Amino acid sequence: MTDVPGRTLPVSARAPGKCILFGEHAVVHGAPELALAIDLTTQVVVQGSDVRRLNGHAEGVDDHGYLGAAFARAWPTGAPVDVRVVSRIPRSAGLGSSAAFCAAVATAFSSARGGIARPDLAQLAFDIERGAQGVGSPGDTSVVVAGGYVTLNAPGDPPLWTIDGGDRRWEVRRVEDPGWVWVVAHSGVPRSTADAVRAVTARLAAPDGPDLLARFADVATQGIRAVAAGDRARTAELLEANQTLLREVGVSHPRLEALLDAARPAAMGAKLTGAGRGGSIVALARPGQETDLVRRLARAGALPFVVRPNPNGAELVESPS
Ligand code: MEV
Repeated sequence: MTDVPGRTLPVSARAPGKCILFGEHAVVHGAPELALAIDLTTQVVVQGSDVRRLNGHAEGVDDHGYLGAAFARAWPTGAPVDVRVVSRIPRSAGLGSSAAFCAAVATAFSSARGGIARPDLAQLAFDIERGAQGVGSPGDTSVVVAGGYVTLNAPGDPPLWTIDGGDRRWEVRRVEDPGWVWVVAHSGVPRSTADAVRAVTARLAAPDGPDLLARFADVATQGIRAVAAGDRARTAELLEANQTLLREVGVSHPRLEALLDAARPAAMGAKLTGAGRGGSIVALARPGQETDLVRRLARAGALPFVVRPNPNGAELVESPS
């Protein structure tokens, strides 16, 4: 994986969205997670300006939590810039739009400051997202910086990097791409990641919390093994097992359950993805039935996408010279 080289303004960078296959929420508390970077991206262009601007407008810049956090942590010069953003990732959908924005801005700012090593970029993107959101794990920001499939808190080869969250550290490792396509579908129900994380944190503080967390960890550990082994049937079973746990901690939603029902005839397995309480589901189609699956989900009122892994992660967008 290459580091991000230094460039002079204007600098353009992009980062992919993400989809969590196993372990969301539990990862915040140290359990394993598996996520992949998806081929929907957010692109930013950072250029010199008279005052700080977002998409050409000076109003509202100070109200943008993620951009404010990026200025505070990644732009110490304070020089005024205009940050332009174009995104294909639906917002508040559980598909990593915030992580992609934080990683793309961190990439562009860091390049304009002389470049950055990728592990430091992963830490910076996490610090920006956590700075704005207040809670959460580095799962989203690490997978969108790394690209491909990555685990957190799972044993294996030497880690790509370790992220420091103050009271907790998360090791990030790569998993080989099994070569599958995934179908994600946005329910259209918006939700707040921070509120969902706080609610699950409260649930896991109950007397049966440690047992629940151990069950999340077990499903994710087996899920990581199944994906690494290219075992589609086992992966599908474990997606369902993970959904059962997510239901149990209260982050499913009637619309998500309706989409999971609609997917069933064409899917080997499916679950919600991301913080839940709305947002999206991810499904593994029966071989060759991706189109049927997409049709069923669209008929059920969702916005479906066929997604493939984005292998590159956050990167500069170089203009042809
Ligand atoms: C959100 O995409 C994933 C959560 O596990 C929160 C986090 O890890 O920061 C729910």
